[in-house]
Amino acid sequence: MPSGRQSWWQRAVLYQVYIRSFADSDVDGVGDLRGIVERLDYLDWLGVDALWLSPVTVSPDRDWGYDVADYNDVQPGFGGMAAFDELLGDCERRGMRLIIDLVPNHTSDQHPWFRDSRAARAAPRRDWYIWRDPNPDGSPPNNWRSTFGGTPAWTLDPATGQMYLHSFLPEQPDLNWWNADVRDAMDAVLRFWLDRGVAGFRLDVAHAVVKDRELRDRPAGAAEFVLVDLDETFAVQRRWRKVVAAYEPERILLGETWVMDLSRLAGFYGSGDDQLHLAFNFPFLFSALEADALRRVVEETEAVLPGPAWPAWALSNHDVVRFPTRMCDGDERKARAALTALLTLRGTPVLYYGDELGMPQAEIPRELERDMAGRDGARTPLPWNGDWHEPWLPLGAGVAGVAEQRDDPDSFLNLCRRLLARRRSSADLQDGSYETLPAPPGVWIFRRGEGTRVALNLSDEPAEVDDLGGRTLAPWESVIVES
Ligand code: NOJ
Repeated sequence: MPSGRQSWWQRAVLYQVYIRSFADSDVDGVGDLRGIVERLDYLDWLGVDALWLSPVTVSPDRDWGYDVADYNDVQPGFGGMAAFDELLGDCERRGMRLIIDLVPNHTSDQHPWFRDSRAARAAPRRDWYIWRDPNPDGSPPNNWRSTFGGTPAWTLDPATGQMYLHSFLPEQPDLNWWNADVRDAMDAVLRFWLDRGVAGFRLDVAHAVVKDRELRDRPAGAAEFVLVDLDETFAVQRRWRKVVAAYEPERILLGETWVMDLSRLAGFYGSGDDQLHLAFNFPFLFSALEADALRRVVEETEAVLPGPAWPAWALSNHDVVRFPTRMCDGDERKARAALTALLTLRGTPVLYYGDELGMPQAEIPRELERDMAGRDGARTPLPWNGDWHEPWLPLGAGVAGVAEQRDDPDSFLNLCRRLLARRRSSADLQDGSYETLPAPPGVWIFRRGEGTRVALNLSDEPAEVDDLGGRTLAPWESVIVES
């Protein structure tokens, strides 16, 4: 049985709910919070321990909730605060935790802070955002480009003749994290939700909220994006850690740490217990499904993370192509192997809704596209088997729905459920150390703890594995062996 040494978030399997597409209680075509309430039995049955909800806060939805117009209230279309509290209460009763998405890097241009900031050069909150004069020829103050579309990250506000910085859309102005009042205001937002009972935050753009104070040009030839992982952001994370550390039971910070260098990733853990609890590992998410590539990412992660730090693993999220398509060429054998790796590594796995079904990326006809950055194919409604009415995005094809898969013991869904149950009942899988074992080409074998070995044949050839007593693994077969 699992040891008592671990915190809940180290034992947990997290499940990301993209609210708009999870479950729709009022049949308006858009998922909502009561829809999640109605499906908690399913999530319990599956065996997940905590939910990460995509943004619940008030938003004009230029970037689907990631443009926040009010941090302290819930989007009416999701059911408002009453529905949120209902969900929180139901989760609590089941021992399931609720983590919400928090967007500290930027607000909506509709947020009262920005409305005030843009009103006049001398406005009380002018310095809460990043304003600069354009160059005399009208060009932006530096060469930074925004993440969406690569257009300049500066927009002129004619009323005051200055430009403001936005890492994303012009409707998402960046907050100025050098301003002490901004830091205080965001602490208050964290406390508002912690007091309500959330188990923590998935922090949007957690790696890059602080911008170069002197706004220097990015080096020629380098990507000119605004989002650079400056060490100054670590200090902000230490501050947030202190805020959450004042709460019992333990609350967590789960960072969207979009860096491809694992030693930089390690930096977000600080000394291991003073910054983020969990930092998403994008090199793992973007790895090819190849034994050497995955093994290398995992070994390096294990090597660079500071002592008490705990890895976080995911294969999909709402910004990237779903893993069965991106990594697995739509081949279910491969997706089963990838899922097995995700759920047996040392660290906290995060499932994206639909991962449990092996749901592939959907093809969205041009006229039905909704997202300005082309991410709709990863955000389509979860197929419950008949429960959506005129959904905001079409349902994808190529995967059996929840009801159908539940009835089939060999389905992807039942594999996922069995893996979660196995993980929960195995101290090795929850808490045991990771060690690579020798393996033939194309095969990845690791030991967890004292007595559990995971062998994944990530190749098209059968593989004879000495370490498993000469057992032959079929192409893409994986096994978990206890000795
Ligand atoms: C990362 C979020 O995951 C993404 O969906 C969003 O567009 C950007 N941050 C901007 O908030």
